[in-house]
Amino acid sequence: MSYPIFRPRRLRQTETIRRMVRETRLAVEDLIFPLFVVHGSGVKHEIAAMPGNFHLSVNELQKEVKEVASLGIPAVLLFGLPSFKDAYGSQAYAKDGIVQQAVRAIKDTVPDLAVITDICLCAYTSHGHCGVVEGGVVKNDPTLEILAKVGVSHAEAGADIVAPSDMMDGRVGAIREALDEAGFEETIILAYAAKYASSFYGPFREAAESAPQFGDRRSYQMDPANADEALKEVGLDLEEGADIVMVKPALPYLDVIYRVKAEYGVPVAAYNVSGEFAMVKAAAQKGWLDGEQAMLEMLTAIKRAGADLIITYFAKEAARLLQRLMS
Ligand code: PBG
Repeated sequence: MSYPIFRPRRLRQTETIRRMVRETRLAVEDLIFPLFVVHGSGVKHEIAAMPGNFHLSVNELQKEVKEVASLGIPAVLLFGLPSFKDAYGSQAYAKDGIVQQAVRAIKDTVPDLAVITDICLCAYTSHGHCGVVEGGVVKNDPTLEILAKVGVSHAEAGADIVAPSDMMDGRVGAIREALDEAGFEETIILAYAAKYASSFYGPFREAAESAPQFGDRRSYQMDPANADEALKEVGLDLEEGADIVMVKPALPYLDVIYRVKAEYGVPVAAYNVSGEFAMVKAAAQKGWLDGEQAMLEMLTAIKRAGADLIITYFAKEAARLLQRLMS
């Protein structure tokens, strides 16, 4: 079938027709909003490179999650800034640690909002690496035990989903085993399965004060040039008990999202990371592109590639835009 019988433009004539044949629909259910929690009270401090995103103390967080829930966003992803750091990141599993307090406060405020917690040590260690450092090397196996403790402490606080982002080998299995032993066999694991060593994490590291104090993360996060390896990583995490797998960042890795979804057919999350968000915001502020349209296009593309869930700093803005488009 070809021109002049077939004219693809027939189905693009009006917004009504375009809506009818649209293949991908972004929905508020797809969105997860990341939040940064700090000690103190009455703290609401905007993060410089992430307009509309804040460092929040627990009481301010409670207001924020009410708004998030009222927009219909189903879940938040929590990151904490501890009161002090040490070599082993002990504040990451402290009973009254900042994330543990935040989880309890959210569950008191909006019990139906799903709470996801990031499991990693980088914001909690004095050296800023995601694992235990010995002789200048990030050690895999000694880290697993600590990560498992962090996972159990988050589950005890009431987290619905724990999300290991450290990229140590074997951590999903270690966390699953520890959760089950502690009686948390229903706690869901969202594994940052294919997490790349990316320059797009820049604004986040400012926000989480988690930049490595020496070297970089290339000995544990993936080489951006590799995609077959991502399938291997995802396969291993699924074997170890991951319920949902994540590809991160999202936009430069749409091919990876596509292949993971096609190969495994499990729920796939994509992390539209801080640098991806900041690029759009900065260009929009300069008047170089339409920020709202760019946001919608980006999120739709991530979903089209195969992501079921999108973790994004745009979640609130996108939810509002979707409400407007519906009305
Ligand atoms: C912690 C972690 C990072 C992000 C999420 N969890 C940063 C990193 O690996 O350095 C990045 C998120 C973002 O850029 O939005 N390991």
